[in-house]
Amino acid sequence: MFALNFNKNTMPIFYGKVALMDYLKSIKTKNSTVGFIPTMGALHQGHLSLMQQSLAENEHTVVSIFVNPTQFNNSEDLEKYPRTLEEDTQKIAQLNNSIIVFAPSVDDIYEGKVLSQDFDFDGLENQMEGKFRPGHFNGVGTIVKRLFEIVTPTNAYFGEKDFQQLQIIKKMVQKNNLEVNVIGCPIYRASNGLAMSSRNERLTEEQKEESSFIFKTLLEAKEQFQTKSAEYVTEWVEKTFANNPAFELEYFQIADEATLTPCETKSDSKKYRAFIAVFVNNIRLIDTISLN
Ligand code: PAF
Repeated sequence: MFALNFNKNTMPIFYGKVALMDYLKSIKTKNSTVGFIPTMGALHQGHLSLMQQSLAENEHTVVSIFVNPTQFNNSEDLEKYPRTLEEDTQKIAQLNNSIIVFAPSVDDIYEGKVLSQDFDFDGLENQMEGKFRPGHFNGVGTIVKRLFEIVTPTNAYFGEKDFQQLQIIKKMVQKNNLEVNVIGCPIYRASNGLAMSSRNERLTEEQKEESSFIFKTLLEAKEQFQTKSAEYVTEWVEKTFANNPAFELEYFQIADEATLTPCETKSDSKKYRAFIAVFVNNIRLIDTISLN
């Protein structure tokens, strides 16, 4: 019941955690490493680049495809989230058919209690995405911890587009003494600069083209930050978006990379990053750029 397409030439796909855990136990040796890429499906080139990195660095690579209900604070967003398992598995098989796919049901993961655990991420959860998506990071922490317990990976790969999520997962691993290396990977961008995201699927071609404005603005903000204050740059970005009716800016924040708290006075010893969330016709896009 759990493993479909399971022979020497086809990619192993598991729909249940017990079968996956048994399989991983049977293939792992003392020194073999397992790379893991958790996803919510609707795979794009950004996800495939994480898989390529894992394939290059590990004996085994596991990809999970699971639209996690507890991290959505908006039921319409959850409902509309693209679910494309068949295309996703084809894309993975084309890349490398030794990748192990885990596509569990909500019940297999949550066992009847679709609830998130309460985490303390030392305040990282109270900034930006945490402010605008209450409960989101408890949902992310819950699913990632559960997936780590099932897959027990050596290395787990996450895109830097969700930089706040990456920092929060590192914190969760550290606080729970989990034995997994969390590896942040560069943002994969379309040729016009738009950061790859499963949500881009919902944009028209014209909206995708227009959305290059987000990265162009971030690049300009980075340039300005070299000589101007965070406050000046933030006001400039807010004005720039106010003058472009195609977008609704939710937030722009320049923050300390380690604590994610807003930058008030610049310090040479700190690393800063700009974070942005915008709506394009009700579709929420986020992006980020390192500033120094
Ligand atoms: O970044 C995502 O796609 C999700 O937040 C993750 C890490 C797969 C958890 O559901």
